[in-house]
Amino acid sequence: MLKKFVDPLPIMESIRPTGHIQNVPFYEVTMQETFQKLHRDLPPTKVWGYNGLYPGPTFHVQRHQPVHVLWKNKLPEWHFLPIDTTVHGAEKSQPEVRTVVHLHGGVTPDTSDGYPEAWFTRDFQKVGPHFTNRLYTYPNHQPATNLWYHDHAMGLTRLNIYAGLAGMYIIHDREEARLNLPCGPFDIPLIIQDRSFHEDGRLFYPDEPVPPLMTPRPSVIPDFYGDTILVNGKVWPHVNVEPRRYRFRILNGSNARFYRFSLSNGEPFIQIGTDQGLLETPICVPSLVLAPAERADVIVDFSTCYGVSVILQNDYETQGKKPDPETTGSVMQFRVVHPLTSRDKSSIPAHLAPVPKLTHHQHARTLRLNMRKDSYGRNIHLLDDRLWSDPISETPKLGQTEIWNLINDTEAVHPIHLHLVRFQILDRQPFDRDVFEKEGRIVPTGPRVPPALNERGWKDTVRARPGEITRIIIPFGPYPGLFVWHCHILEHEDYEMMRPYIVTR
Ligand code: C2O
Ligand code: CU
Ligand code: CU
Repeated sequence: MLKKFVDPLPIMESIRPTGHIQNVPFYEVTMQETFQKLHRDLPPTKVWGYNGLYPGPTFHVQRHQPVHVLWKNKLPEWHFLPIDTTVHGAEKSQPEVRTVVHLHGGVTPDTSDGYPEAWFTRDFQKVGPHFTNRLYTYPNHQPATNLWYHDHAMGLTRLNIYAGLAGMYIIHDREEARLNLPCGPFDIPLIIQDRSFHEDGRLFYPDEPVPPLMTPRPSVIPDFYGDTILVNGKVWPHVNVEPRRYRFRILNGSNARFYRFSLSNGEPFIQIGTDQGLLETPICVPSLVLAPAERADVIVDFSTCYGVSVILQNDYETQGKKPDPETTGSVMQFRVVHPLTSRDKSSIPAHLAPVPKLTHHQHARTLRLNMRKDSYGRNIHLLDDRLWSDPISETPKLGQTEIWNLINDTEAVHPIHLHLVRFQILDRQPFDRDVFEKEGRIVPTGPRVPPALNERGWKDTVRARPGEITRIIIPFGPYPGLFVWHCHILEHEDYEMMRPYIVTR
């Protein structure tokens, strides 16, 4: 077993523009294969990284300042992780290594959004059926928040992100800067991911179907859980901190693992932001649940902990088991050993940002999250019982607000993500599954429960729990076009739990 807390926490470098195109900053990012030390006692591991870095470099952009990014693929011709060619879009006839970059949570026109079929291969030698343009533009007209960019290639996303293709993208604005939150070295992004390794340091990703199934092989699996936790690309790192307030921008960048974070000294997190930016007021939470792709912006106050080591723990039950505190129950360690270098002048204002409640809508939809068996006997998760290749069924009108009732008729919590938009969670309500399965009628069995206090901000990913109706309210815009919505458990997303949708004029 790998020793915990031996490596220092890496901080991703900030990327700088390589130039300007008519005053708009222009960035060039190259996806490359590289070998990286992920733990003191592991030989260098083959990873795929943006600019050869895993995680990729961090973007820091200002609100209302658009940027151009040229995403380039210099990856090898063959994948080093097991591709299931029975998965739609990953057939033998397709090039094996395909990439396309999506800015998760970005309010982006569809031509720059990274549609799964807008993929391209090394040097753009081949491109997918929906490829439109090489140069992407991010308008950045949205409020300050923590986004992330990651690969989104059809049928391959789980493997490309697992290989290392993910990074942070932070939007800053003047309103937030005025709040005097912890900044500079006291403002740290944390990308949390689980991985497994072969003895020789290679990344391990299973290639067998779940027993008793025998075929196909390689096979997509229901969900991936690794046995080690990495933060910013290091296994179980530690960081030396001062006895003061820190801001941590936490991203769950795992394929399928959920986390419930807490601090071993019992201190709470003061959550200031969700997926899409600041909450109205800071919310004090003793523990914090994050599904894949969800983000939490938190303040942790170490001022009374001088000399103490604090472990960031996880106790979210996975596959019916509480995580072992010795392994996946630990995430990283904060050592409050640095003396104060300066007085902590940061503050946590009682009011952070206005979050006007959405109340009016023009249209409502009821959409099932359900399951089927494929011809091999494997589970396929579906959105409203439809395959990716079925005709487009969700066509909200530009400028209209809709309520989506997500009816989860499966056994899993699905983190549902929509591209382009931000939304609010209205409530969750249990329904009678027997009646639903026999008669297709939705009969609630309890009251509508409003979201937790720290979910009452703008979101782009929502946890839809089994046996519940999760209601979200979504203003569609500001761009028309072709986008996707999907479950962010990457194994589900790759295996049919993703659908195109169109914002129509
Ligand atoms: Cu985080 Cu469709 O993506
Ligand atoms: Cu997205
Ligand atoms: Cu799912």
